[in-house]
Amino acid sequence: MMTFHEELTAKTEGVEEIIRKYLPLEEGLQKTVFSASDYSVLNGGKRLRPLLMQETYTLFDGRGKGIEPFMAAIEYIHSSSLVHDDLPCMDNDEYRRGKKSTWAAFGEDMGVLAGDALLVYAFETASKALLQCNNPANVVKAMEVLANKAGIYGMIGGQTVDVELTGKALNEEQLQFIYNLKTGALIEASMMIGAIMADASAEDIRSAEAIASKVGVAFQIQDDILDVTSTTEVLGKPVGSDEKNNKTTYVTLYGLEEAKNKVASLTEEALELLSSLTGENLFLEKLIRYLITREN
Ligand code: IPE
Ligand code: IPE
Ligand code: MG
Ligand code: MG
Ligand code: MG
Repeated sequence: MMTFHEELTAKTEGVEEIIRKYLPLEEGLQKTVFSASDYSVLNGGKRLRPLLMQETYTLFDGRGKGIEPFMAAIEYIHSSSLVHDDLPCMDNDEYRRGKKSTWAAFGEDMGVLAGDALLVYAFETASKALLQCNNPANVVKAMEVLANKAGIYGMIGGQTVDVELTGKALNEEQLQFIYNLKTGALIEASMMIGAIMADASAEDIRSAEAIASKVGVAFQIQDDILDVTSTTEVLGKPVGSDEKNNKTTYVTLYGLEEAKNKVASLTEEALELLSSLTGENLFLEKLIRYLITREN
């Protein structure tokens, strides 16, 4: 029997291979943008979103490789969001995943372009699922969810409100809106696409969205906690970034203890919803529970 951490390592390596497989080759006159994109993706993230996608796919009895282009695509979009999030005009952070952030390594111009490149390349990659699955309608549906949750109704919408209200005192409702969109949306897309590509029912797709929404908000609150309690070495990105930028976070609004309680209660709610589904995936349950105690 493998321990959870052994299983997590093995599965993360599998995801890593898929992410690598679809990346562009670093060649041609424009190769700097390929290098900057590849640098941003291949630098040791946790790969949580593709993992959640894969495990939701398995939960709903998904078979075959049709999910793989979407697993790569969601990680490219997530990486693109981090590249832009670190820019001097946004959070102005020079480290990411233990290395110079993309703009700090390649310049601001390439940071903007690599972020754009990854976002568009994600959809080029996702479209390859058509060749690997026998239900093209699911691919179209999954691409719509991907675009909706990445764009103005999702991550980009959330980042907009996040930067616009930086330095202002937020209320719970505004904070909830930001967390749901900037972080929750891509996690919702991950689990929904896992369900869609497994041909799950509309009701099961809605359940996947509801579970992911709770996981996503818990994930962002944990990120805020670690920004205060961790070290740059462990985290791989600068601690104190939120304070530097005068961000209102769940921690500044309610304190550390209350924030930790909120992460735990949202996680329990997510697990309860998960256990009400017909299928079962023990690894997915452990993965969601592990996120409460994650250190990076
Ligand atoms: C960081 O996401 C940004 C947030 C949405 C909080 P992750 O913590 O998943 O970052 P990586 O991919 O592991 O570096
Ligand atoms: C970022 O939130 C969420 C994104 C959509 C990138 P943060 O700004 O807190 O993420 P980190 O802490 O820089 O990873
Ligand atoms: Mg930010
Ligand atoms: Mg940031
Ligand atoms: Mg943060």
